[in-house]
Amino acid sequence: MQKKIIIEGGKRLEGSCLIKAAKNSVLPILACTVLCDGEIKLHNCPDITDIKDMLNILISIGAKAEFNDGTITVDCRTVEKTTVVGELISAIRSSIFLLGPLVARFGCGIIGSPGGCAIGSRPIDIHLDGFRTLGVDVKEKNGLVNCESYGTGLRGGNIRLKMPSVGATENLMMAAVLAKGCTVISNAAREPEVTDLANFINAMGGRISGAGTKTIVVEGVKRLNGGDYIPIPDRIVAGTYMIGCAVCGGCVRLEGANLKHLGALKRILQASGAKVLGGKRCIIVKSNGSLNNIGRVQTRVYPGFATDLQAQLMVMATIADGESVIVENLFETRFKHAGELVKMGADIDIVNKSAIIKGVNKLRGAEVAAYDLRGGAAMVLAGLAAKGTTAVSNVHYILRGYEDITKDLKGLGAKCESLGMRI
Ligand code: UD1
Repeated sequence: MQKKIIIEGGKRLEGSCLIKAAKNSVLPILACTVLCDGEIKLHNCPDITDIKDMLNILISIGAKAEFNDGTITVDCRTVEKTTVVGELISAIRSSIFLLGPLVARFGCGIIGSPGGCAIGSRPIDIHLDGFRTLGVDVKEKNGLVNCESYGTGLRGGNIRLKMPSVGATENLMMAAVLAKGCTVISNAAREPEVTDLANFINAMGGRISGAGTKTIVVEGVKRLNGGDYIPIPDRIVAGTYMIGCAVCGGCVRLEGANLKHLGALKRILQASGAKVLGGKRCIIVKSNGSLNNIGRVQTRVYPGFATDLQAQLMVMATIADGESVIVENLFETRFKHAGELVKMGADIDIVNKSAIIKGVNKLRGAEVAAYDLRGGAAMVLAGLAAKGTTAVSNVHYILRGYEDITKDLKGLGAKCESLGMRI
């Protein structure tokens, strides 16, 4: 039976929902456990396929890993393989995060081409250029990336990123943790998940300063220890449900979510007529479902508006009053949800990297598909806002980043069901 999410639209959202740890924090932290000389326990983790895939990759190179009731226990002291290839690698792009820790610990690492959502070309040149600055010999051949630093080991250096890539900043921080001397990463990404990884590393005995600013300084240490850590809440899952409340109307309380990480979305929602309140541990959204257009919104690196919320925001623009424009600056083919929204009656024109959206009175239920993780979540939101029944297929994309989206939404009063799934 094909997996589908079926939604009966038109219900207001009322109630509260617990937001768990951020996928984009947990994934690099899991890769970083390769550097830790002791057992790591991560708490409040969501049971999502990207995290399970990452754990299986760690197990495939010799780690001991378990996931029980939101707590992940990993011990990488038994890791012995430095080659990570195969199907799992192509399933998640985050497998690239293993390269930095493997080279740092073993002096070598070979990895197959990383996968992930098809949202545009996703090169890894910034990661590899940074490794070279740290003294790594990098060769790319037959779909494999081969890194070696035999003999000399990694040494600190000055790395200037040509673009503030989140993944490259994280990978290079991890590569530099055990390097001899000091590494300075300038034009670094400032996303909260970068700061969270630095906080994790420091909690285990590392010496990183400046995370959350454009210049990160990593002073090499001899080892990282084991210990417990609670990653930050998932701002993208929280943002998805904030937009859900705005489009459906109602009042939603997101427990554990941090509004400080969602400043750009807060401003957009407020300008559209929704109310957004909260602090570091809770977000409350109130909306009467009648929204002004969002004007012109561009996706930007943090603290700008997140590309991972672009699809969900587009749903809001489709039923807001008047014309909105969304410009996608990060990934070139991240508008596949637009075609699906048009099937539901939306009025959207794509011109290069801009989506021009004229608000319609109502979306109508339809058979639609998810084409990537966040686009899939957007289709679920569209179903909630539409008149009639919507069926979303390709649900496996959504399961990469949302533990149980239908359970969360049903808890808020939505009428939706997951069919053909064991969740
Ligand atoms: C991370 C997030 C992803 C989010 C993205 C942008 C994780 C696991 N994933 O992805 O959810 O959508 O940030 O906020 O944290 N680039 C290069 N060369 C490189 C690396 C990146 O040109 O070596 C380009 C990319 O093509 C893209 C831009 O830089 O246009 C940003 O990518 P990056 O910040 O690296 O995103 P990811 O770390 O892959």
